[in-house]
Amino acid sequence: MVPRWRRWLYPLAPALALLSAGCAAHPQSALSPAGPVARMELNLGVLSLWIMIGVFVVVAGIATFVLVRFTDRGDRGGELPNQVEGSTRLELLWTIVPILLLLVLVIPTIRDTFTLAARQPGGLQVDVVGHQFWWEFDYPTLGIKTADEMHIPTGRAVNLSITSADVIHSFWVPSLAGKQAAVPGHVNTMWLLASKSGTYPGQCAEFCGLSHSDMHFAVVAQSPAEFAAWVRSMQHPVTTPTSTLAKQGQQLFNQYGCGACHSITGTSAQGTLGPNLTGLGNRSIIAAGVLTNTPANLATWLANPPGVMPGVIMPDFHLNSAQQKALVAYLEGLH
Ligand code: CUA
Repeated sequence: MVPRWRRWLYPLAPALALLSAGCAAHPQSALSPAGPVARMELNLGVLSLWIMIGVFVVVAGIATFVLVRFTDRGDRGGELPNQVEGSTRLELLWTIVPILLLLVLVIPTIRDTFTLAARQPGGLQVDVVGHQFWWEFDYPTLGIKTADEMHIPTGRAVNLSITSADVIHSFWVPSLAGKQAAVPGHVNTMWLLASKSGTYPGQCAEFCGLSHSDMHFAVVAQSPAEFAAWVRSMQHPVTTPTSTLAKQGQQLFNQYGCGACHSITGTSAQGTLGPNLTGLGNRSIIAAGVLTNTPANLATWLANPPGVMPGVIMPDFHLNSAQQKALVAYLEGLH
């Protein structure tokens, strides 16, 4: 037989596993806020948690006290205790106290709701469009469009207008802000701000099809100077291939009509169905974050997109490995 003390280990083991999982670094977590919006939202959650802990302690404490104090231990000679019914004082108490607790919660909730809904004057405008299965980021005031990675300057509010090109998605970058639905034919707005530079992972948070769980993105928060440099590079991108291989790749790109779906600023490719590829060589992720951006991964992607991301619109062009290499050389040369 298992010794008694060891039986305690069974429930303890999963609890310890959960606890230790909480010690890892979680960049994609609403519990590690990296800006005022996420901080405000976390504070509301923490306030509500403390209220609940308080209520639990008081209620469980009274229940335990009553249980211990008034248990019949056979020393009452079979007599029933005093039978009481109704108590105006108690009923008032347990009506008024919850109302007060709700007021403590509702006042900051309403205040923050209005703060978070307000467009931030002087903020950077980014139009976000959800697609099956990638995110489009348009900067209307800067004349830039990109995909997968949203660059923003630190210390400046970013006003987002969020919509969808097909089904309902949900834009969520937990360390910067709560989620917002991307609904076709409708624009939702929100704002966020990154206090310090870094790359904050995001994720589509609404089931939207086969590759919903693969619909990642990244928010790259940079110092204002670095952001300005990125904007310049996107406005005046390097698109002319230098190597023979990359030149072949450009020919293939045109031959296969890739420009019917993809845009590359400064070239004849002006399609809008698929992700904008301007400056692709500078991105850290491709295919909505399923793959990191390396030549080998890009070749894997081009070799069979639906094999990497089920349900993706981009077809398999049955490219041979020489063609893949050439296209990779061209695309990774876009800066
Ligand atoms: Cu898009 Cu889930």
